[in-house]
Amino acid sequence: MRFGHFDDARREYVITTPKTPYPWINYLGSEQFFGLVSHQGGGYCFYRDARLRRLTRYRYNNVPTDSGGRYFYINEGGDTWTPTFMPMKKELSFFECRHGLGYTQITGTRNGLRAEVLYFVPIGQTAEVHQVTLKNEGSTPKRFKLFSFVEFCLWNAHDDATNFQRNFSTGEVEVVGSTIYHKTEYRERRDHFAFYHVNAQVSGFDTDRESFIGLYNGFGDPDVPSAGESKNTVASGWSPIASHGLDVTLAPGEEKKFVFLLGYVENPRAEKWEKPGIINKTRAEQLIAAFSSSEQVTAALGKLREHWEGLLSNYAVESGDEKLNRMVNIWNPYQCMVTFNMSRSASYFESGIGRGMGFRDSNQDLLGFVHLVPERARERIIDIASTQFADGSAYHQYQPLTKRGNNDVGSGFNDDPLWLILGVSAYIKETGDYGILDEQVPFDNDPNNAATLLEHLKRSFDHVGHNLGPHGLPLIGRADWNDCLNLNCFSETPDESFQTTGNRTGRTAESVFIAGMFVHIGPDYAKICEYKGQSAEATRARAEVAKMERAVLEHGWDGEWFLRAYDFFGNKIGSKDCPEGDSKILIEPQGYCVMAGIGVATGEAKLALDSVKERLDTRYGIVLNNPPYRDYHVELGEISSYPPGYKENAGIFCHNNPWVMIAETVIGRGERAFEYYKKIAPAYLEDISEIHRTEPYVYSQMIAGKDAPRHGEAKNSWLTGTGSWNFVAISQYMLGVRPEWDGLCVKPCIGKEVPEFTVTRKCRGATYRIHVKSTGGTGQVKLVVDGKPIEGVIVPFAKPGSTVHIECEAS
Ligand code: GLC
Ligand code: GLC
Repeated sequence: MRFGHFDDARREYVITTPKTPYPWINYLGSEQFFGLVSHQGGGYCFYRDARLRRLTRYRYNNVPTDSGGRYFYINEGGDTWTPTFMPMKKELSFFECRHGLGYTQITGTRNGLRAEVLYFVPIGQTAEVHQVTLKNEGSTPKRFKLFSFVEFCLWNAHDDATNFQRNFSTGEVEVVGSTIYHKTEYRERRDHFAFYHVNAQVSGFDTDRESFIGLYNGFGDPDVPSAGESKNTVASGWSPIASHGLDVTLAPGEEKKFVFLLGYVENPRAEKWEKPGIINKTRAEQLIAAFSSSEQVTAALGKLREHWEGLLSNYAVESGDEKLNRMVNIWNPYQCMVTFNMSRSASYFESGIGRGMGFRDSNQDLLGFVHLVPERARERIIDIASTQFADGSAYHQYQPLTKRGNNDVGSGFNDDPLWLILGVSAYIKETGDYGILDEQVPFDNDPNNAATLLEHLKRSFDHVGHNLGPHGLPLIGRADWNDCLNLNCFSETPDESFQTTGNRTGRTAESVFIAGMFVHIGPDYAKICEYKGQSAEATRARAEVAKMERAVLEHGWDGEWFLRAYDFFGNKIGSKDCPEGDSKILIEPQGYCVMAGIGVATGEAKLALDSVKERLDTRYGIVLNNPPYRDYHVELGEISSYPPGYKENAGIFCHNNPWVMIAETVIGRGERAFEYYKKIAPAYLEDISEIHRTEPYVYSQMIAGKDAPRHGEAKNSWLTGTGSWNFVAISQYMLGVRPEWDGLCVKPCIGKEVPEFTVTRKCRGATYRIHVKSTGGTGQVKLVVDGKPIEGVIVPFAKPGSTVHIECEAS
């Protein structure tokens, strides 16, 4: 069942009923000011850091689900309603939500009054625009009240949700004309404040939540809108809000626009005050002046559209499959940009106070956005590498506001350092900027202990080599890519974190997955060393990679698939020999080892992927492991804590499915890769939205596996490495266009189902137009470049400004 449709020409998803199976959200902002907005106007915003600088309040896991947002209430002759449907839930004769790239527009009509709210963050600004357009579609004049509503968060979202003995007494505001200033804690150590403004004269205002809503009411039946009169309250302690009351009249057919602006301002400490106790508002007034008319709003929206058009033009496909086109050209890169901005911090499943930026996650996200914003990718790489420890290991995450590593999820995830090599390689292949390797980058943010980025990569590489176990395979540490495979944790106590507890410190538990990664990523490190003239180091690296490959085939092969790991006691994980009730096969090493080329020449690769098909594939995607763990295993940790079929215990983890897709292209089975692709790509799931439940325009982290009662139901949409890896799988391996060290690799492997397509790829300033005839999916290609046949699959990089025409026959 569908709840809307794609509007590809406008790059929007159009939701046509408020009653979607779950709140379907969008993101605003891509620089410093960010917002989340659901199709019902729910959500919140923050400046840079969802935990430390939260501007408006949101209640997670609430009743009803989507509680709190930027709401507008209309009272026409005693009939009070909200055009976003929530929170008043009054019947609407028309409802539509258009989620576009960086903006959302929600329209509701009742009694012939059409109210449209447009939400976006203008480029270069630290503010959200809420433009309300009201139209009288009836034949008689209308006179009604409009009330705005936002509820301020007292900045630190964690403190705001827990420390009530203090923060019920700290709230402060100022009201001047049509602007409400939120200045809690500004009197002491904060140099920033927020404001909510409207470009019209107000008939009243409110800033005290209890007065506006009423102590025993909710957002759905608030006092002031229902009574139709603002109370002009000035908050003192408790919960500050901002609400404007406006009198509106509309002749038949008439339309009026109001521009509301929710802004954030920082003042230099010496310029904080206008006079004692009164905030210096100069900067706020400048921001307000920039959005005082709807013409300014239209212009800013135009700029936002241009911005996205520019970004998305870096990779585009034209094919006969409209679902494929919309995933590759619009929604998948859009999701990648959102993960660039948010990492795993703020979504409707990530509370914004739990996780900062992941070391591993951010490096993988980079694969999906490096071609869109290479300069910002460069900065991101330096930020990430600056949190690395001198021994090559890493904090598992860091805080975006301070850019420092934090210990909340600890460290010692032994795959982490390798992802840095992957990220840096992707960046250099995209840009040719080898200069980044010479940047001086601190360890653990200590400026007195710095080395070149190249040295950071060496330590990343060696961190694996220096930490091998009894079989010559890498020690897993706390966990590897699978945060829930905690082989040294041995937790028997509730409330202990699986990610930070290590009750045993063994040097025995080994990961075949990390070994596969090492073989996959090691050659890139060697290539980098070669470019830097370090040929001895390159030779050493290649030798270590070759040794690791042998170790995988010798100790990491189970006969029909790759083993997953050895536990603390040296027992096999993911083996045909594992006892009943335990998993016999896990997905990660099958995908990753084959991506690395292990066993391709000798047949193990094909066997492993056939085992994936036979044992892990389902109608909704490939499950992580099979059979699921039935009981809690103290020696395995969190993986066995989940009920069968959910999350890392046999859920369909959409992040690692693309490894199998890529692996299938490595052995020349493009048709199967594409079959897997379509199973989890959201645009192909639109028709089963009632089962899938999350947004049909973005990937979710997990879909319940075949052992779960709710097989096919997705959770944790938006912030997942799934976005970038699926983009890599489809754009670089199936459609087959990717920058390599010496040129653009063109090697489609998708099969007959997409018989003809054209890819336009911009890279290093040149444009490549690649026309592909695809008669088979074996990965065999013939290329004609600007009229001349070439050998192989690498098209040399062309001069900036030039356009290269490529004809490709893929069979
Ligand atoms: C989550 C984490 C990611 C991890 C994955 C598997 O998505 O963000 O880092 O690899 O789970 O546990
Ligand atoms: C939980 C989740 C996993 C996530 C981890 C990070 O273990 O299952 O997906 O990566 O938390 O803290």
